[in-house]
Amino acid sequence: MGFIAELQERIEQLKRRRRAVILAHNYQLPEVQDVADFVGDSLELAKKAMQADADVIVLAGVYFMAETATILNPDKKVIIPNIKAGCPLAGFMNLGTIRKYRELYPKAPLVMYINSYAMAKYYADYIVTSSSAVKLVSKLDEDVILFGPDKNLASFVAEKTGKTVIPVPREGHCPVHEYLLDEYYVLKAMREHPNAKLILHPEVPPEARRHAHYVGSTSQMIRAVGELGGDEFLLGTEEGLVYRARKLYPGKKVYPVNPRAVCINMKKNTLLHIVRALESMKPVVKVDPRIAARIRETLELSFSMV
Ligand code: 13P
Ligand code: SF4
Repeated sequence: MGFIAELQERIEQLKRRRRAVILAHNYQLPEVQDVADFVGDSLELAKKAMQADADVIVLAGVYFMAETATILNPDKKVIIPNIKAGCPLAGFMNLGTIRKYRELYPKAPLVMYINSYAMAKYYADYIVTSSSAVKLVSKLDEDVILFGPDKNLASFVAEKTGKTVIPVPREGHCPVHEYLLDEYYVLKAMREHPNAKLILHPEVPPEARRHAHYVGSTSQMIRAVGELGGDEFLLGTEEGLVYRARKLYPGKKVYPVNPRAVCINMKKNTLLHIVRALESMKPVVKVDPRIAARIRETLELSFSMV
């Protein structure tokens, strides 16, 4: 038996012993996706975590995703395979920035992208994911909205809703989408695959986005492969999504816009980390119960609106 198959078998045994489920983000390594009970985007992972019939949730994703699962499941143990899997985009939102923009725009609601840490979510009026942002903002009465930390998603929401969406902070971005999926890579991929439909994530810059046939969350992007007509598709997001799309649609030709668009943090969760996490039941992701209670309310309100 090969190394990967051995580790996968060991994980299956440990899952049964611990009454654990593995929830994996769409960008996880192929061998991690294959051992997961569910693979999805941020909103789906949060919802699955709430429904999980298990004592332990292994969240194979980045830290803010595990933190969200903890907040929504005060009675379950949430483990992240590799505690070093952070998200540089989430790091753009800090307390000083929130205070500054709240003072500048006292009447504007603060809509927080789920790619943020608990400290920031605590101060949010609403919490959205890439799949729910447009829908939620369009339902708000206010026409001026504070939105962060992703400036590109903020501009996508502004475009789709016609509202004044102020990016908080001005320069928040995901380095993978901002630099490795910018207009250069999009135009190059379009030239190489002229018949392919272009499907992009809203974290890409607006100059790249204007070429897209469809823009959506990672799971919406996968569904678009099935729903848009045609046989060839270019996926403009972290390269891990291509594995999932090819697995779900073996009859279609799916290419990455840039095969080097890798989120190093997502790839920090290896099978070996999952084995060790399930053996040791560490590292457990914890959030102060008072902070968690307030964020849970905001998440439940926001989920009920979309
Ligand atoms: P999704 O919610 O679309 O899966 O996005 C998560 C993410 O981190 C995108 O970079
Ligand atoms: Fe964060 Fe970007 Fe990685 Fe998504 S791809 S987890 S936004 S760094």
